[in-house]
Parts: sequence; structure tokens; C-alpha cells
Amino acid sequence: VFASLVQAPEDPILGVTVAYNKDPSPNKLNLGVGAYRTEEGKPLVLDVVRRAEQLLVNDQSRVKEYLPIVGLADFNKLSAKLIFGADSPAIQANRVATVQGLSGTGSLRVGAEFLARHYHQLTIYIPQPTWGNHPKVFTLAGLSVKTYRYYDPATRGLNFQGLLEDLGAAPSGAIVLLHACAHNPTGVDPTLEQWEQIRQLMRSKGLLPFFDSAYQGFASGSLDADAQPVRMFVADGGECLAAQSYAKNMGLYGERVGALSISDAGITASKEVIINIAGSSKEVDDFVCKTADVASKVESQLKLVIRPMYSNPPIHGASIVATILKDSKMYDEWTVELKAMADRIISMRKQLFDALSARGTPGDWSHIIKQIGMFTFTGLNGEQVAFMTKEYHIYMTSDGRISMAGLSSKTVPHLADAIHAAVTR
Ligand code: LMR
Repeated sequence: VFASLVQAPEDPILGVTVAYNKDPSPNKLNLGVGAYRTEEGKPLVLDVVRRAEQLLVNDQSRVKEYLPIVGLADFNKLSAKLIFGADSPAIQANRVATVQGLSGTGSLRVGAEFLARHYHQLTIYIPQPTWGNHPKVFTLAGLSVKTYRYYDPATRGLNFQGLLEDLGAAPSGAIVLLHACAHNPTGVDPTLEQWEQIRQLMRSKGLLPFFDSAYQGFASGSLDADAQPVRMFVADGGECLAAQSYAKNMGLYGERVGALSISDAGITASKEVIINIAGSSKEVDDFVCKTADVASKVESQLKLVIRPMYSNPPIHGASIVATILKDSKMYDEWTVELKAMADRIISMRKQLFDALSARGTPGDWSHIIKQIGMFTFTGLNGEQVAFMTKEYHIYMTSDGRISMAGLSSKTVPHLADAIHAAVTR
């Protein structure tokens, strides 16, 4: 019955690894998928993750029962704090509903299905370009996808004017997908001043922010700095959705561990200020209660999305994350290892830039050091990428994105040779 099916193409990102695995060349280099590699080109399991796993294994009281539909309670609480900030007024007022998700993708999908069922505007604006999976996730969840200008190929930087114009022209209430930091694939982020302008514009038009936070800690090496744009939107008391992934920042790729948090609208003033206005603390307590009630309703509806989709999430990865986040010593160890990964990527940028300068490769390559996060959007076209794969066995996505995390000091010269040959042929 399936004989008439056509062969579907490989995924544009994960398919690069499939092609790489088939190549017998000893010089092959996979710069496709965004997965961290050591200087020796090997996948990395963080020491703190190994230690957390050991603790979990040694704990004989642990069982393999189903998690609740929303996942591990500790993990959810700690994840919301990590992204929104421990002192977030939204968390303090119980305005946040958090559910465990299957990494960033699963969390986005659950959030999108929730919006498709319960939000009045079904259009989501995504940046142009964006992660290749975004439009598919949102379309299949029942949202209608439109784009806003983001990247300027001429400057290899942000098209801020275009972004403001497109969001300014979006219908009131529309959903807007924002990359929290380290935009994928371009490595181009707005400055904090630009974020503030984006926030003001979006709030003035009632646009709903949906953050994809896949790289917290990877862009700058600081978990707090990389969460700043999200926290700006939460601090103003408006609604906000955030999908988090622990794939990159804790190296838990295959454990599929992430979270979706939905913060309902609330008040930003301190309790004392509101008591002054309202005249009694009873009204404040009523308000906090009412908003907590909304979060509880949101959570109940998220459960109805999750249960028929995958029933409940896996326990192991979330337990690792919760173990690390709740122990201040392990948390500190994590931040040190995370910073080391971020720093190695930054050093790869410098080395690649220097190697191209040394070769006198035509063109301005300063974007390699200006862009941030896991990826460099090189500006190489599809034909040049195909040439580099054929002649140099270098694998990358056809849009010219390279994963800097896949490079090492040993492989930088090979990549620089390939880029030089591709642009001078
Ligand atoms: C990437 O963009 O390479 C990563 O987010 C991995 C993926 O799932 O595509």
C-alpha cells in the first residue's frame, strides 16, 4: 500500500550528518549539526553531568515510575528560575506555568499547539532566516507562519530597520518567535538597546513573544547575560512564552530535556507599592491568587496537549538537570564548564579569522568574530558549499552555516584552505 510513496529528502541539518557518516575520507569534517566537540573532535559529557548521573545511580530509592504529565516538579521550578531569573516577579507571584518538554523542539511544539487551541491570533512571525525546523513545527501545530526581516546579507549583521518595520506592520496580537540569544543560523543578535526597542514596539501592539532559548550560556558564557532579553519581557509584566533546551548548555543532546514556561500578564510593582494604591493587603492577595489561578488553568490545558502526544516525559535527563541546578556547588561547576565551552568556540572564531587573513582570502571575514554562539553564517553560497564538501570533505548546511563548536585548532587550517579555494576558484 505504500509503494506509491515518494522518497522524502533528508533533513537539511541532520541529513548533513547522514552524508558525513557515509564519507570514508580520513580528512572529513562535520560542521553541520550544532553539537559541541572537544579539541580532539570528540563529543563531550560534562564532568558535572557524570557526577550527577553517579549520584542518581547510587540512590537506591530511585525508581523508574512514570513522571506526571507535566514532568519533574523540581526540574520545572528550577528551569523557570534559570530562564526568568530567581527574583522574577512573575515567578514570585505564581504567574508562571512550566512543563517539561522534549528538549527545545518538543517544548516549542507543545507551546505552539497550546496557542493554536487557546490563543485568538493564529499567525506567528518568525525571523528570516531561522532554524530550518521552526516553520515546520509551527505549521504542523496549526499556526500560520509569516516572516519578519532579520538578517542583512550586505552587512552580515542585523536588519534592524526591516525588523521594526515588519513587526510594526504585523496584526495586533500576532505571535512573534524570538531567539533568546545566539540566533541560529546567523549568530547575529540585537543589542540590549535594540531589544528594548523591540520590546516597546511589541508591547505597544500587543504582540505575543515566544522565545526559543536553545543556547543560554553559550553566547556570552554567562547564563544571566544570555537570558537578559527574555527577562526584559517578563519584567514588564506582560505575557511571555519561553522554550528552553538543555541540549547544548548541559550537553544533554540525546536525553531530550527542555521546558516550556508560560508567564501570564501581571503587575510589576512591589507589594508595598500596591498596598499603598489599593489600600489593603487583602486586595493584593486576591490579585496574586487570581493570577496563580490562571497559571493553574494554563497548566491544566498544557496537560491536555501533552497526554495524547507522548503521555509524559522521560525521567533521566530532567533528573540530571534538577540535581545540578539545586546544588549550589554543582551549579557553579556547571557554569565553569559551560564557560569553557563558550570560550573554546570564541577562540575558534579568532583562529579561523586569522587563518583566512593569513591566506589573504578575498572579502571581509570580520563577521566570523562579530557573530556569536555556536554558528557562523559564512556568506558562502550553495555552490561553494557543495565544492567544499566534494573537494575537502567538509560538511555543512547548504545555507553556508558552519558549527564553530565542531572545529578545533587542528582542523582550522583545513577549513581555511577550503574556504580560500571556494572563493578564489
Ligand atoms: C542545529 O541547528 O544544528 C541544532 O539545533 C540541532 C538540530 O536539531 O537541528
